[in-house]
Amino acid sequence: MGIRVGIIGAGPSGLSQLRAFERAENKGDSIPEIVCFEKQSDWGGLWNYTWRTGVDEAGDPCHGSMYRYLWSNGPKEGLEFADYTFKEHFGKDIASYPPRAVLFDYIKGRLEKTAFRDKIRFNTIVRDVRYHEDKSEFEVISRDNKSDTESADYFDHLIVATGHFSTPYVPYYEGFDSFNGRILHAHDFRDAREFTGKNILILGTSYSAEDIGSQCWKYGCESITVAHRTAPMGFDWPDNWQEVPALVKTEGSKAHFKDGSSKEVDAIILCTGYQHHFPFLPDDLRLKTANRLATANLYKGVVWANNPRLFYLGMQDQWFTFNMFDAQAWYARDVIMGKIDLPEVSVMKKDPEIREAKEDALEDDYACVRYQGDYVRELIAETDYPSFDIDAANEAFFLWKKHKKKNIMTFRDKGGFVSPMDQSISPAYKKAWKEELDDSLEAYME
Ligand SMILES: Cc1cc2nc3c(=O)[nH]c(=O)nc-3n(C[C@H](O)[C@H](O)[C@H](O)COP(=O)(O)OP(=O)(O)OC[C@H]3O[C@@H](n4cnc5c(N)ncnc54)[C@H](O)[C@@H]3O)c2cc1C
Ligand SMILES: NC(=O)c1ccc[n+]([C@@H]2O[C@H](COP(=O)([O-])OP(=O)(O)OC[C@H]3O[C@@H](n4cnc5c(N)ncnc54)[C@H](OP(=O)(O)O)[C@@H]3O)[C@@H](O)[C@H]2O)c1
Repeated sequence: MGIRVGIIGAGPSGLSQLRAFERAENKGDSIPEIVCFEKQSDWGGLWNYTWRTGVDEAGDPCHGSMYRYLWSNGPKEGLEFADYTFKEHFGKDIASYPPRAVLFDYIKGRLEKTAFRDKIRFNTIVRDVRYHEDKSEFEVISRDNKSDTESADYFDHLIVATGHFSTPYVPYYEGFDSFNGRILHAHDFRDAREFTGKNILILGTSYSAEDIGSQCWKYGCESITVAHRTAPMGFDWPDNWQEVPALVKTEGSKAHFKDGSSKEVDAIILCTGYQHHFPFLPDDLRLKTANRLATANLYKGVVWANNPRLFYLGMQDQWFTFNMFDAQAWYARDVIMGKIDLPEVSVMKKDPEIREAKEDALEDDYACVRYQGDYVRELIAETDYPSFDIDAANEAFFLWKKHKKKNIMTFRDKGGFVSPMDQSISPAYKKAWKEELDDSLEAYME
């Protein structure tokens, strides 16, 4: 029997893994037998928008955390695939901050031209995984929610690509149980128009806080108050947006903050981050890590050091995304196909510790971008993934940060980013982000 590989998840990371094998086959290599399990009815992971919240059609936790009107929060030049450029997909240069539907189309594009979709079992959730030491194989128990049947499959290698921005981290504050309004996590936020004319309180200061607040501002909420636990975001916000110290408690619909101030609010949106959550994995295979650039327990950020037949993709906090998932997938593929030899277990266990120490010494966001860029560079140097101008991708992130600092509500209107793949220069979008209320693929491509 040939090598059998299981992939859990057909989001961008799982699709990178399928693409990596498809490229090897395209070059004439004999590839393993592959089964990819995907609990949703389509591929694309978070980019496959769902209006649902709470539970999905089958009663399992709803995976989707994306919302209507979401546009990329970073320039596309930082996430472009090296083997499939935006220009190749769309046939022309496009602006740098595409809406969700445009990126969804791009993510699917390179595999839609192949037969690899057939390797995915849709509507099929992985419920349990066991590793059988005696046979050196993984047993994967899944449930096909369409036919309502359970199956067991066996694999020599397993790749976990289930993402880590889906299971919300939900803190409790005194008074929440009697708050007179809606309290929701960013994971359940869908349409900013729900908050038109409302006073909203946001907890958290990272990308969800910034972007959900901006959406609500764009769609006409009355006021935005953002409470910070550590430090304010510090952008030059519009007049109806204020940053306040940490929330202490709520009383009725009044929120009280650490500096003694208070504010009447209609709704509280918890932009408080997500958990790495793998309910289908036993303790000896389960990744436990903070959301950081150097993940715990993964050699080269990919290989489970305690059992190198297991791989995780995309578990890092992310500046780089799609091309980093590719770099990781190509690396995992080459380990599985015997093209890369792994070192001894003791070396693999030490590797994440060294990476964590280096990350801890980074002084600012610019250094973090370079650190992750260097990581991508390191991985692609070991495989045949097309090398690309990582310094140009870093520069795209730096320019993005400068634009945001200048004006947080107009940064998406800017062009002039250089593709690290084909050096094309992005045009500015035809309309200001604030004015464009149609985020469809068709409107964007007009
Ligand atoms: C609100 C939001 C906005 C974002 N915006 C951007 C952006 O603008 N640019 C950017 O580059 N990144 C963005 N990201 C980051 C995002 O994490 C990545 O772009 C990307 O989606 C990660 O891909 P993934 O495949 O690792 O995970 P996911 O996209 O989460 O995909 C994981 C897949 O695994 C499946 N799955 C999970 N559990 C199981 C199971 N037990 N059995 C079977 N299947 C399972 C899920 O259904 C899903 O399809 C955003 C994230 C969020 C939350
Ligand atoms: N348009 C877009 O493209 C878009 C939009 C939204 C999100 N995203 C992506 O989604 C991912 C997740 O981002 P995220 O912002 O949801 O999560 P995150 O980056 O992990 O940030 C979590 C935030 O929650 C705060 N927090 C945690 N516990 C808290 C508590 N008890 N009280 C108050 N604040 C608390 C943290 O504050 P401290 O700093 O104090 O720890 C931090 O600011 C990112 O990759 C991001 O790029 C993209």
